[in-house]
Parts: sequence; C-alpha cells; structure tokens
Amino acid sequence: MSMNDNQIKLPAKYDAILRASREINFSMASDLQTGALLRTLVASKPAGHFLELGTGTGLSLAWIVNSMDNQSSVISIDNNPVFYSTAEQFWKDQQRVTLVNTDAGPWILENQGLSFDLIFADSWPGKYQLFEETWRLLKRGGIYLIDDMLPQPNWPSDHPENVARLIKDLERRDDLQLTKMNWSTGIILVTKTR
Ligand SMILES: C[S@@+](CC[C@H](N)C(=O)[O-])C[C@H]1O[C@@H](n2cnc3c(N)ncnc32)[C@H](O)[C@@H]1O
Repeated sequence: MSMNDNQIKLPAKYDAILRASREINFSMASDLQTGALLRTLVASKPAGHFLELGTGTGLSLAWIVNSMDNQSSVISIDNNPVFYSTAEQFWKDQQRVTLVNTDAGPWILENQGLSFDLIFADSWPGKYQLFEETWRLLKRGGIYLIDDMLPQPNWPSDHPENVARLIKDLERRDDLQLTKMNWSTGIILVTKTR
C-alpha cells in the first residue's frame, strides 16, 4: 500500500487529452491531486449538476465526467477558441456534457436562474471576478472548489493581492464552511451552508 498521492488511476481520455494539450502548449491544467479530489467530490453528488468555469483543453472534465452518474450533467465554459476546440474534440458528443465557448463573466450574469451542486471555479470570473454572482448559482450544501491558491510560477506580479483578498472575503462570510489545503497547488474546499 502506498500513500503516494500521485499514484492515481487516471480517468478515460486523460492521456489522449494531455497529448493534445501538449501539442498546443497548454500548460494551465490542474494537477493530478486536484483532479482526484474533484472526481471524489463529484461522486458525492448523485444526479448532480456541475459547473466548470475554465475548461482549458478538457483535462479537468475528464475527472468530473469519470465519476458522474447517468443522471448527472456538467456545463463547462472557456472563452479561448484554441483550448475550446481541443476540448470539443473529446467532449462534444457526450450527452451529459455541455461545452460553452464564451466569456464566463456575461454567462454567469445571464444564467442566474441556474443552480449547481458543485462549481469548479478555474477561471478569473467566478473566482476573482463575479464571486457573489457565482456563489448564487450554488445550492445549499453545494461545493465550491478552487485550486492554484499557493504561489505558482505563472502568477502575474499583482496576483498575490487577488488571492489574499479572495481568502479574506471567503473567511469573512457566515454562509459557508471552508478547508484550506496546503497541498497540490493550494486548494480551498468550500461548502455553502445557507
Ligand atoms: C487554469 S485554466 C483551466 C484549466 C482546466 N480547468 C484544467 O484543469 O485542465 C483557466 C482557463 O480559463 C479560461 N478563461 C480565462 N478567462 C476566461 C473568461 N473570462 N471566460 C471563460 N474562460 C476564461 C482560459 O482560457 C483557460 O483555459
């Protein structure tokens, strides 16, 4: 038995998407630990409705879809046409998966009637912008997951302030429970309590 947390059974399509991602030099994918956590959390929501902000090339979708049951569905949004077309190659014909190639900011504002069991907020909108509007899309008991909260080599110089502000804002709220995990790229796991 090993506690090596990189020793993880990869989801279907993962290797193929990774190869396609390398071909277009996509380097922003979440790591294996985050993927495994995401997959585990998705499994806790049978018939769940999931939202991913920031599809990238569809690697994190592989983890999400891997543990969705037949009654579950996921919407995933990215505004980058190149990343989107890679994700599309792998996910466009999947009944339970809806890909949207648009700016997540307006999408969040235009879809305030929707509600989700889990939101993986992996783009600026939904995390550093429009947090309140994104939070409203989450059901009570729903999970909000963010990664890249520990300093990363690709952070712009002013980014630490954004991260610090988001953590402070989350910690001030009385409608959630959160766990900060100094693991992977730095994860905050949040559950909405009311
Ligand atoms: C960290 S990457 C996502 C990685 C992906 N979730 C994964 O783990 O493989 C962030 C993504 O957000 C997208 N993005 C940035 N700004 C956006 C916006 N305003 N609307 C939609 N997507 C955006 C980028 O194109 C990029 O693909």
